Amino acid sequence: MMEPGKILLVDDNPQNLGVLTGILKAEKHTILVATDGKRAIEVANKAQPDMILLDIMMPGMDGIEVCNKIKEFPKLRDVPIIFITALSDSDNISTAFASGGVDYIVKPIRAEEVIARVRAHMQLYKMRRNLELQVEVKSQEIMDTKTIALKAVANLAETRDPETGAHLQRVQLYIRQLARELQNSGFYGNQITENYIQDLYDSSPLHDIGKVGIPDKILLKPARLTEKEFEIMKTHSQIGYYSLRRAKIPGRDNSFLDVGADIAHAHHEKWNGTGYPKGLKGEEIPLAGRLMAFVDVYDALTSQRVYKKAYTHERSRDIMFDSMDGSFDPQIIKTFLNIEDWFKDISEKYRDDEDWELSSLI
Ligand SMILES: [Fe+2]
Ligand SMILES: [Fe+2]
Repeated sequence: MMEPGKILLVDDNPQNLGVLTGILKAEKHTILVATDGKRAIEVANKAQPDMILLDIMMPGMDGIEVCNKIKEFPKLRDVPIIFITALSDSDNISTAFASGGVDYIVKPIRAEEVIARVRAHMQLYKMRRNLELQVEVKSQEIMDTKTIALKAVANLAETRDPETGAHLQRVQLYIRQLARELQNSGFYGNQITENYIQDLYDSSPLHDIGKVGIPDKILLKPARLTEKEFEIMKTHSQIGYYSLRRAKIPGRDNSFLDVGADIAHAHHEKWNGTGYPKGLKGEEIPLAGRLMAFVDVYDALTSQRVYKKAYTHERSRDIMFDSMDGSFDPQIIKTFLNIEDWFKDISEKYRDDEDWELSSLI
């Protein structure tokens, strides 16, 4: 069945335009016309046609040049262009294909040929567009499923942990901003990609997921933990790590699970080697763990906890840089200082006691 579409006809000869319009209108297509290259590019941009029939020999900008220009616009790049050429132009045919044309029609114009070629390419184009649309919808569904699963798991962990959901949302914002700023300053450029930043954002709420495995009498104890209890508490980083590692599908690239596992495992490691579970030092600690350690502590200090009130941004910063000296990656500290006003803003704006939803911020 013929799929009608919107077709742009470009020819300096009004007679040719008239003939083509007649043929294609009879096929129920919507027709736009242009008699020179410059106008053709304007119309194409404005009207977003499904196909362009383009004369090669035109005064001023010729068809090949018009085609090259049109291909520079991302939204027009895939629109099929069929060249119209005189028989004597046959040398131009290979140039026409090289510039991105999908087909050509030789003058004098014959209605059956125009109809057949337009029909074939219109069908192909629409099928491809449909497929792309379906892929887009499916990809979105997969992304949604991932987000829902992550949220569910993080929320579940949260019910076992006195830390609030707002903490999880703030650390997402912090870690993303810190990674972006590191990237902008050229630090760890080989590790920080857009994908990596998204993985940090997605998986950072899982940093304490291992607390699900810590007994209530320790996790919810309203008093200071004994040394033995603290040793048990510390295992949450390994429990989290192993749970996330086991969730990986073998042979598949689940980069956000890798980043999540690093975060769960290493968010209590310290730059100077005095952290847990492994006592890793410096760059032995995965970057995701170093970033998480920083934003987790910053958020714990600037927000209220059962055992403390919220400290100001300035006081929190001083604690991190004085009494916790040596705990954090110096590169991360430097980067944080570049954007500390932004951190201060977020910490003051999105407090635990206020009702706010992260989705309204993005
Ligand atoms: Fe933790
Ligand atoms: Fe935390």
